[in-house]
Amino acid sequence: MDLKGVKITWLGHASFRIETPAGNTVLIDPWVTTNPSCPDDEKNFKKVDVILCTHGHGDHFSDVEAIAMKHKPTVVVMHELGEYLQKKGVEQVAGMGKGGTQTVGDIRVTMVHADHSGGIDIVDPIIYGGEPCGYVVEFAGGLKIYHAGDTAVFGDMQIIREIYAPELAMLPIGDYYTMGPREAAYACKLLRPKAVIPMHWGTFPVLTGRPAELKKLVPDVEVLEMKPGQTIS
Ligand code: NI
Ligand code: MN
Repeated sequence: MDLKGVKITWLGHASFRIETPAGNTVLIDPWVTTNPSCPDDEKNFKKVDVILCTHGHGDHFSDVEAIAMKHKPTVVVMHELGEYLQKKGVEQVAGMGKGGTQTVGDIRVTMVHADHSGGIDIVDPIIYGGEPCGYVVEFAGGLKIYHAGDTAVFGDMQIIREIYAPELAMLPIGDYYTMGPREAAYACKLLRPKAVIPMHWGTFPVLTGRPAELKKLVPDVEVLEMKPGQTIS
């Protein structure tokens, strides 16, 4: 599909590095240090302008603080996660809530629902991190993407389609902690995207869902099976 000047690189798991038409770098759920799927040459960033993080679990959140301290991006997170990061010394935190939209550089970011859990589990004891979320991102060229975060399928994905109509959806398919292919196929029915990038699969043995299974279930949707480190544009 036509990404309208946007370049998307999958870093494995739920992590993406996205280059906007204006050349800004947006990271979604950057997990590189201990991510077994992330190629070594993708673990460091030249620059980071924006980070979007969906929830406080280690496989989405554990690198956010260090990347934010180093590159000084705007960090978009749920309000409580933002408070946590600010107490750690992270500047430029743009904590928000579900249903809200904000402009960050040349993107418009809407925080949407996710059906999962959200504690900050990289500390002991676990700290309440607010609810988990997903994001709809609108780029300057008009492309709209939906990163679902970690989630089950939920009926209000239909609302996401009706209000935002994202053309490209990044959906977890690994099963066990999130949707598997069966549920992700139902999510496609609700969201009607042109294309789907399967994510949150293959990282650990329990994440058994595979893109091929989703492809069989949604013949009318373009399933973009990516390799970690691969870029599409
Ligand atoms: Ni999670
Ligand atoms: Mn996860």
